[in-house]
Amino acid sequence: MVKICCIGAGYVGGPTMAVIALKCPDIEVAVVDISVPRIDAWNSDKLPIYEPGLEDIVKQCRGKNLFFSTDVEKHVREADIVFVSVNTPTKTTGLGAGKAADLTYWESAARMIADVSVSDKIVVEKSTVPVKTAEAIEKILMHNSKGIKFQILSNPEFLAEGTAIADLFNPDRVLIGGRETPEGFKAVQTLKEVYANWVPEDQIITTNLWSAELSKLAANAFLAQRISSVNAMSALCESTGADVTQVSYAVGTDSRIGSKFLNASVGFGGSCFQKDILNLVYICQCNGLPEVAEYWKQVIKINDYQKNRFVNRIVSSMFNTVSNKKVAILGFAFKKDTGDTRETPAIDVCKGLLGDKALISIYDPQVTEKQIMRDLAMKKFDWDHPLHLQPMSPTTVKQVSVTWDAYAATKDAHAVCILTEWDEFKSLDYQKIFDNMQKPAFIFDGRNIMNVNKLREIGFIVYSIGKPLDPWLKDMPAFV
Ligand code: NAI
Repeated sequence: MVKICCIGAGYVGGPTMAVIALKCPDIEVAVVDISVPRIDAWNSDKLPIYEPGLEDIVKQCRGKNLFFSTDVEKHVREADIVFVSVNTPTKTTGLGAGKAADLTYWESAARMIADVSVSDKIVVEKSTVPVKTAEAIEKILMHNSKGIKFQILSNPEFLAEGTAIADLFNPDRVLIGGRETPEGFKAVQTLKEVYANWVPEDQIITTNLWSAELSKLAANAFLAQRISSVNAMSALCESTGADVTQVSYAVGTDSRIGSKFLNASVGFGGSCFQKDILNLVYICQCNGLPEVAEYWKQVIKINDYQKNRFVNRIVSSMFNTVSNKKVAILGFAFKKDTGDTRETPAIDVCKGLLGDKALISIYDPQVTEKQIMRDLAMKKFDWDHPLHLQPMSPTTVKQVSVTWDAYAATKDAHAVCILTEWDEFKSLDYQKIFDNMQKPAFIFDGRNIMNVNKLREIGFIVYSIGKPLDPWLKDMPAFV
């Protein structure tokens, strides 16, 4: 029986390994992590991450050919293939701070693999890493190997949170990069055979190591760029009376462009887009390509611009102050169907409103109060001033409340901001919400999920990104 071990039981390691276990009953899969609470949760009824369809698969395979453990060394020692799916956040201090990927977790995983191995292994980069990382990993492994042979493969993950299981069942492609040597080709073939259990072979792309590593950064940069492109257009739509939904539909029907990923919004979030583009920018700078670096940096700048623009629109619409006004925040996760809040635009929007002394009341169906408070305590990421943790001042903490119901969040509020496109927000009783709000009652739809005309009929003043402006908003002084 082939044995697989995956280091890192996170948003990628957990779902990918669960699907491998389901699709390959002859393979034994162990997912290991240094975090005891995370592994305990994987072994419990309440999994550590929310992902539609995941629970069923884990329940089917756990204890049969899928195991979650903190005994990292034992499972690595026994494995034929070791996936490394640890976090690779942006460096916050030292050389490259604010841009470069922090490979501390990766390096310590690689050193541990070299230390504990007693047989040859294939080591697979599952994490998103800077191009050429495999070379560094190879050096660490080879210099500590005690004669054991390692083959490094790059197998970046393209799943999207919220649809991870569907993406893993039916991937557009699986990408495997390896060394172009007989041993490298053999290792690529071994991993290919694992995926071939359910992925058609023509959808398994094999490349050299550097192409595979760079393709993942490039794919995320292209995806984020589409969002920034349509968001940039949304600002122009508001100034001209065009409707961004109509524009993106008209643009997206061109088969050369395609219709996906063209929805205007308050901005992109998630743990990957910003971090991977920052990393790409840093790599370009390090390779003496400042023009290329500037080009990609602009994708992040537009994303920051869009979040600021949204906050400014709220404040300027509400007579240029939100001080002591209750503002309901519907949705805190960075997208629907996940509880993940990493880099969610909600953090920036809430902080902007808190800076103007608003009283914010937050509801998200999947995010806990503890998580929201932790996120709001983080100092805002800034290109030139990398992250530092600082506690929220006691006064600011008092400005925030978290509810478990959209109606409680919106009661007596002056404004409602929709920051995540959860389906349940579309079917709320907006008449009831309107009746219980202060007047004039505002709705700021940061995801364009609402029927603007229906809300206006109820009496709301509505702002929806990139849509023709409400007469009220047109008449307000142009601060945005
Ligand atoms: P995560 O933070 O959810 O999980 C990483 C896990 O690795 C944590 O549980 C941590 O405790 C564990 N870990 C760190 N060092 C370890 C060590 N030395 N030994 C054992 N466990 C260790 O991260 P996530 O979201 O799963 O991302 C992992 C990688 O996959 C990142 O490089 C990310 O960029 C990439 N990725 C993430 C996607 C996503 O949607 N979240 C999609 C595609 C790629």
